[in-house]
Amino acid sequence: MNAAGRVRLDRTPEWSALAKHREQWGEVGLRELFARDPGRAERYVVRVGDLHIDYAKQLVTDETLRLLRELAAASGVTGLRDAMLRGERINVTEDRAVLHTALRAPRDAVIETGGENVVPGVHAVLERMAGFARRIRSGEWTGHTGRPIRAVVNIGIGGSDLGPAMAYEALRPFTARELAFRFVSNVDGADLHEAVRDLDPAETLFIVASKTFTTVETISNATSARRWLLDGLGGDEAAVARHFVAVSTNAEKVAAFGIDTANMFEFWDWVGGRYSYDSAIGLALMVAIGPERFGEMLAGFRLVDEHFATAPLEENAPVLLGLLGIWYGAFFDAQAHAVLPYSHYLSRFTAYLQQLDMESNGKSVDREGQPVTWQTGPVVWGTPGTNGQHAYYQLLHQGTKLIPADLIGFARPVAELSADLAGQHDLLMANLFAQGQALAFGKTAEEVRAEGVAEELVPHRTFPGNRPTTTILAPELTPSVLGQLVALYEHKVFVQGAVWDIDSFDQWGVELGKVLAKRVEPALAEGAEVPGLDPSTAALVTRYRQLRGR
Ligand code: F6P
Repeated sequence: MNAAGRVRLDRTPEWSALAKHREQWGEVGLRELFARDPGRAERYVVRVGDLHIDYAKQLVTDETLRLLRELAAASGVTGLRDAMLRGERINVTEDRAVLHTALRAPRDAVIETGGENVVPGVHAVLERMAGFARRIRSGEWTGHTGRPIRAVVNIGIGGSDLGPAMAYEALRPFTARELAFRFVSNVDGADLHEAVRDLDPAETLFIVASKTFTTVETISNATSARRWLLDGLGGDEAAVARHFVAVSTNAEKVAAFGIDTANMFEFWDWVGGRYSYDSAIGLALMVAIGPERFGEMLAGFRLVDEHFATAPLEENAPVLLGLLGIWYGAFFDAQAHAVLPYSHYLSRFTAYLQQLDMESNGKSVDREGQPVTWQTGPVVWGTPGTNGQHAYYQLLHQGTKLIPADLIGFARPVAELSADLAGQHDLLMANLFAQGQALAFGKTAEEVRAEGVAEELVPHRTFPGNRPTTTILAPELTPSVLGQLVALYEHKVFVQGAVWDIDSFDQWGVELGKVLAKRVEPALAEGAEVPGLDPSTAALVTRYRQLRGR
């Protein structure tokens, strides 16, 4: 039992049933599963909105899926889901509601937390954002010297960067191409330097995005950006109001920084940073794609939210994807999960998912604070295909680790590609399908021998197969489809956290490093004594100071 009186996950009969099922499974592979049940190719597909999600190449049978669903039911996934959607404070360690789904709720929805319906506030901010985005896009909003804005620089980090940066890349064909967009996150001054070096301050708008408005990287970069602007515009402080806007939950800190709160776009503490890019944190994106496209993206999110809230467990895509990850982590000792989009436009998608998944589920105590004795969140990684095929897919195919993967692709290339470039799309997608096939079915020693390969090379050229993949296929990468994909992963992460009985919505693990950095910094600059500094770090600090000639 845990402190809340629940039976701990790995002591439940549902968990034991799965463990037994795994034992009986032995070494059954995908070739055999398909031979026994060819119908699985058609049956193991779920469709949500525009997403065709094919999980036939997973190491599961109807029985596995049934047992996994029973585990989900016993873990109270649907109860926790409903509590989240109702606005209950399911983020227990921060005592907060978790209401990112309210960010895309229809105008007439009623979602209450703390006795207040949050939906009118969401739509009021969306309208302000739309008005602002239109003024920038039309040139009506002018800078301090009367010139229109031609470059937008978002300054933020983590959830205040990865979401808008990822979505901007994903939706580039839908963006106002005459405007430049840059995303600055790193406290390494090189990031801001490279972002602004070819920009004209008179035509540049900075969006300072920070939920707390205390994040040291963001405040440092925003302070430097302010200096760059004022240096470039002759030092008149009045320029700040025309070139800086803020996105935050913290009006006081925004004002203290010197940004007029009339230029602030609000969001709320019930939106987690990594769940925030469809809030005002997406302002740069809205300027880029326009309010209408942003609205289409929100509708995509909503479509998957509604599916997650209502579809029975057996057809519920986020539930299914979440359970598959639990199966491999718990019973195949899988440590990682690869997300491999076959789309250049999704180049930042996996980086975005890394925060979403790993900051949410990288936990090792349960909701009551007791250590968990089961695997929680995987290492999420990956880059777009086909690039990865020429780099690390070797390990996926023949390495010693089992790494389940998601392959994401689109039937159509984006409309603006030339005929030549669009013609390469079949080749791109042929690679996606081929990789799924090779990972699943491999190549046996007999097949290798039959090709006349020398006996000593046979083991090297054999592919074991049985590397599970899910293929997610959509007609085209549109704002709506992007919203659908992100919501799918948001809810998948939720399902896993619910089963693992962890708080997916806090992130205490990022705190210690921040505190220590603050302590170490004076030692680097001034050689200050840092009380309690360990000998290894102290030696590194000394060497650093020597190299800097201090
Ligand atoms: O340090 C982690 C974190 O708190 C993330 O959860 C968050 O997305 C990021 O920092 C940025 O925080 P903020 O938006 O408050 O600047």
